[in-house]
Amino acid sequence: MNSQIEAAKEKFGKLIEEQMARVEMMKSQGDFIDYSKLDEIVIGVVGGDGIGPAITKQAQRILEFLLKDEVEKGKIKFKVIDGLTIENRAKANKAIPDDVLEELKKCHVILKGPTTTPRAGDPWPNIESANVAMRKELDLFANVRPVRVPEKGIDWTFFRENTEGAYVLGSKGLHLNDDIAFDFKVITTQGTERIARAAFEYAKANGKKRVTVVTKANVVKTTDGKFLNICKEVAKDYPEIEMDDWYIDIMTAKLVDEKRRTQFQVFVLPNLYGDILTDEAAEFQGGVGTAGSANIGKKYAMFEAIHGSAPRMVEEGRAKYADPSSIIRAASMLLSHIGYKEEAEKLDKAMDICTRTEKKLVMTGRDTGATNEEFANYIMDTIKSL
Ligand code: IPM
Ligand code: MG
Repeated sequence: MNSQIEAAKEKFGKLIEEQMARVEMMKSQGDFIDYSKLDEIVIGVVGGDGIGPAITKQAQRILEFLLKDEVEKGKIKFKVIDGLTIENRAKANKAIPDDVLEELKKCHVILKGPTTTPRAGDPWPNIESANVAMRKELDLFANVRPVRVPEKGIDWTFFRENTEGAYVLGSKGLHLNDDIAFDFKVITTQGTERIARAAFEYAKANGKKRVTVVTKANVVKTTDGKFLNICKEVAKDYPEIEMDDWYIDIMTAKLVDEKRRTQFQVFVLPNLYGDILTDEAAEFQGGVGTAGSANIGKKYAMFEAIHGSAPRMVEEGRAKYADPSSIIRAASMLLSHIGYKEEAEKLDKAMDICTRTEKKLVMTGRDTGATNEEFANYIMDTIKSL
């Protein structure tokens, strides 16, 4: 018994040291990269698993179309990175193989298709999710997820903390013995401050009047309590913006309350609550397949589809019918992030026309609907006609 406790203390000690090192890293961090000052912006394109390569390729075609002049001028370069597949990750027994990580670090921004997340019982080793690893390795602390349903008055932007909370040690829990298991949740001052600031800065820049903090600070007092307190501190720097705080349970309910939900504008929340609430929110817009997701850090940024890799579609030969909407929305966020706001707006407008109002082509996931190549062509034709 004692030896189990001693081993656990030692393991916990190492985890604390790692987290303290992460805090030091955050303290020494500079400001956000300024893309307008770069001679060349490298966009990495990572297909991922399952339907990933098929849909990512179409999003890349659209980006190349919109950025044609910039590519010709040498300002934008695309870099396709293969190898972030579950087979390679299993072989290397790593969430991101070293050579792939090295390539990723040569890019400024990354467009990423879905990657398979192994879980216990799968044929794969139970390695960490590639998304989670990339967010940590590249310190992509702000997961920004917009959800808009104009006809229902929904216009939300979620700022999900992306590098700590329940996720940071999600694959480093402790099986003390056959009877007891522990997981750890970590909240830091620096980690909370930077996500809170990102949310308030976004609100300020976009004329939003309210930032809503979501925690479970009444029960998870230490970490969620800290998250909430730091958000309150940051809010003092933005007197023109109202901050309100909610608990995650009632917030999940309020998102379906049609009268109340239209009042929310910007949300800031710890990692796991953000994971859950953004799936619920995306459902009002037509499901996770319609939503893009930006993972933003000070040096790197990654933009991804938020749905899974749909291996069954590939097994059944239907990858070419997979809907690329989510990765195209992510591509639009990428454009806007690196300073091509006009191009991003055009793409969003074309997406709204093609998927909401005009709908000349419909994707059904099968040969009863359009292929993703046809859909991408439809988007580009629509952009030309704007
Ligand atoms: C997301 C996904 C990931 C997460 C999974 C695939 C690890 O659900 O991006 O929301 O939990 O963050
Ligand atoms: Mg999720």
